[in-house]
Amino acid sequence: MTSSTRSCLAIVLAAGEGTRMKSEKPKVLHEVANRSMLGHVLAALTGAGATQTAVVIGPDREDVEKEARKILPNAQIFVQRERLGTAHAVLSARETLAGTHDDVIIAFGDTPLIRTETFAKLREPLAEGAAVVVMAFEARNPHGYGRLIQVDGQLLAIREHKDATEAERAITLCNGGLMALRGDLALKLLEKVGNDNSKGEYYLTDVVEIARALGERAAIAVVPEEEVHGVNDRAQLAAAERMIQERLREAVMASGVTLVAPETVFLSHDTRLGQDVIVEPHVVFGPGVIVESGAVVHSFSHLEGARIASGAGVGPFARLRPGAAIGPKAKVGNFVEIKNADLGPGAKVSHLTYLGDASVGAEANIGAGTITCNYDGYNKYRTEIGEGAFIGSNSSLVAPISIGKGAFVGSGSVITDSVPADSLALGRGRQILKEGWAVDFRAKAKATKGK
Ligand code: UD1
Ligand code: MG
Repeated sequence: MTSSTRSCLAIVLAAGEGTRMKSEKPKVLHEVANRSMLGHVLAALTGAGATQTAVVIGPDREDVEKEARKILPNAQIFVQRERLGTAHAVLSARETLAGTHDDVIIAFGDTPLIRTETFAKLREPLAEGAAVVVMAFEARNPHGYGRLIQVDGQLLAIREHKDATEAERAITLCNGGLMALRGDLALKLLEKVGNDNSKGEYYLTDVVEIARALGERAAIAVVPEEEVHGVNDRAQLAAAERMIQERLREAVMASGVTLVAPETVFLSHDTRLGQDVIVEPHVVFGPGVIVESGAVVHSFSHLEGARIASGAGVGPFARLRPGAAIGPKAKVGNFVEIKNADLGPGAKVSHLTYLGDASVGAEANIGAGTITCNYDGYNKYRTEIGEGAFIGSNSSLVAPISIGKGAFVGSGSVITDSVPADSLALGRGRQILKEGWAVDFRAKAKATKGK
């Protein structure tokens, strides 16, 4: 049987207190690339073929439960009441472990960089009969990690740093923490774990020796250190962000996107950029952004929850908020904010404008300084602007309102009543002209100066 046809239970340990984060929020809910660390782990496990997922949380952590269910509605939730060690945490999910599973993967909720392929690779030796597979890495600095004790290429045991001898501490091949267990043995192995060690904890790592004592084989899967990067404080969170950004940037460039200065562009886990999209330096993609082929995002733009169609241009200095939909070949220029608004094909909003709760027809031109007044302090109202309409600069459109197809609004207008198609609306004071006034004024002013 190959891994892809084997059933797989994933258990994610997410009971960490994360005191070093100095946060009101539990550690696993802190985000990298705009998704919680727990979310990254759950997504990778699902990709690796987990058929059932259990999340072990700390007491009174409804927020963690909610996040787990948001990503995986049928996740099973178990509570570890006391922190008595990693094996004890896994056994909190005893009820589901007792079921029938070909493979069991144990993952940590604070280790968000593991790739789907790596979880899949961890499962492979199980299909070949191994009882335990340990995720191993060559540590630049092994201090604090469990060391892998091998003889003749056979994994005999994992020794925790605190319990290791000097000779064992010289070993640099370390335990990444994550493990896969053969389903028919998992519960049996875990139940044999004791707490006779320097921390008095039930160590998950003891299952290696326990399996060997039963005549079973323990294997290792070596992964790059980056993937087992665990987050305990804000500096490690920032390091995780840096690594995940590098991956995301590489992936979009490999798919045919130009990032002029990749190190200055920040992507979200779900950012989708089409072929030949160009992203200039210093652009931030919040969650939920889709940019279709050939569109250009100019420098210093901030986008979230927005869709940009083919051939459109956005920025520099544009802000697209959730629900912004920019049509094909439309143009959004500098200092423009757009929220919950559609721009039709070829529409132009070139300068200094706020469009909220609006729709703008094809080829309409929105002049500099146009504001949709969409909010009265209680409710939001819509502005509808027809195809080919022309809104003069510095106009306020007081919603709810509609400006018909091909209509004109004169500059500096405050428009409070809807404008029919092809008409002109002016909503401003009339100009007064006094010829020669300035000559008179200057003469009087000079005569009285300093008196
Ligand atoms: C663990 C491994 C060590 C490995 C290292 C990699 C064990 C005994 N040791 O050590 O070999 O090199 O990870 O980072 O497994 N947790 C609970 N409940 C508990 C204890 C822990 O949910 O009672 C969770 C933690 O929140 C964390 C994970 O399990 O997500 C690992 O626990 P941690 O205390 O960080 O183990 P390490 O000492 O780092
Ligand atoms: Mg740790």
